[in-house]
Amino acid sequence: MAFKIKENIVWVGKVDWELRKFHGEEYSTHRGSSYNSYLVKDEKVVLIDTVWGKFSSEFVVNLKKEIPLEKIDFVIANHAESDHSGALPELMRHIPDVPIYCTSNGVNSLKGHYHQDWNFQVVKTGDKLSLGSKELIFVEAQMLHWPDSMMCYLTNDNILFSNDAFGQHIASELMYNDLVDQAELFQEAIKYYANILTPFSALVDRKIKEVVALNVPVNMICPSHGVIWRKDPLQIVNQYLQWANAYAENQITVAYDSMWDGTRQMAEAIAKGIMEADQTVAVKLFNIARSDKNDVITEIFKSKAILIGSPTVNKGVLSAVAAILEEIKGLRFQNKKAAAFGCYGWSGEAVKVISDKLKEGGFQLLNDGIREKWNPNIESVDNCIRFGRDVALNLK
Ligand code: FEO
Repeated sequence: MAFKIKENIVWVGKVDWELRKFHGEEYSTHRGSSYNSYLVKDEKVVLIDTVWGKFSSEFVVNLKKEIPLEKIDFVIANHAESDHSGALPELMRHIPDVPIYCTSNGVNSLKGHYHQDWNFQVVKTGDKLSLGSKELIFVEAQMLHWPDSMMCYLTNDNILFSNDAFGQHIASELMYNDLVDQAELFQEAIKYYANILTPFSALVDRKIKEVVALNVPVNMICPSHGVIWRKDPLQIVNQYLQWANAYAENQITVAYDSMWDGTRQMAEAIAKGIMEADQTVAVKLFNIARSDKNDVITEIFKSKAILIGSPTVNKGVLSAVAAILEEIKGLRFQNKKAAAFGCYGWSGEAVKVISDKLKEGGFQLLNDGIREKWNPNIESVDNCIRFGRDVALNLK
């Protein structure tokens, strides 16, 4: 499939309807994804990014239907991760001398991936490549989200090819932001930001401000995943600025695992207390072991505070809780508060283990947490309700 975006600009990527896990098994993609590759035909012809390696053959076959491969003058590798560079080996077998424009880190990554000595041309921010009547201007985007990441801007058409930034894991034959379901679009965009870009928020903020300061018109943003932003394209840029600056909605997420329902009962009692004290706050409960990890991370990203619960097992926490604590520590959320809870039978270390890990992850602890011995009784349920109420009042 190919799709004309404008006269002489064709989308030649791959819509992956089947994809349900990305980055190995790390990232859930309930709505599939796409790997967007763009062919720009001016006096010179340039191909911007390719697709995941498993689709190399069909990518090259389809590309040949759009243009004889020997007519491609330049290849741009905005990012070396396999979902965008994977078809390069197959493509470059046909056009081995065509220059590949990328950052210096891009050369390292591409060589590291494919062990080929292609005709690399290193570019940095502000470098230009003339296509004839138009130019491509390169903008390095180091650590957004890899050291090699970059974007490029096409003059005259005023299109920003942003690679992963502003992308969403959505498979759709409706190629534009204004054609798809808006709730789904923003759900996938925030999930992408929360799970991939959160640790780099300071860089996101700085890079966006740097690009905005260039004061160039942007008619369209073409990311490397999901739909193209053509209607009010700067809406996603402004949204990123909000997400990059200690984002929080009026939400508290209660996430736990439970062995025999004691910690679950605590979670529900705490939630009851929160709702009694503040009827405006959205309280969401997740059994981590039974929920999609990336969806829970997204809800944590949206929260002003999180409460994490686990019973004590082997002087520690249940494995699903340990896994999410490790994940949220790495994501380095900003300006979020937290507390721990859990029931126990004899030693009862879980609450301290959780609190320590939350603190290590940059969360501001609201208190020392709450633990209840054995299964909750009326008194301990009341304790949890009171605990929830105090948390809510503290956050008001
Ligand atoms: Fe879509 Fe960083 O690759």
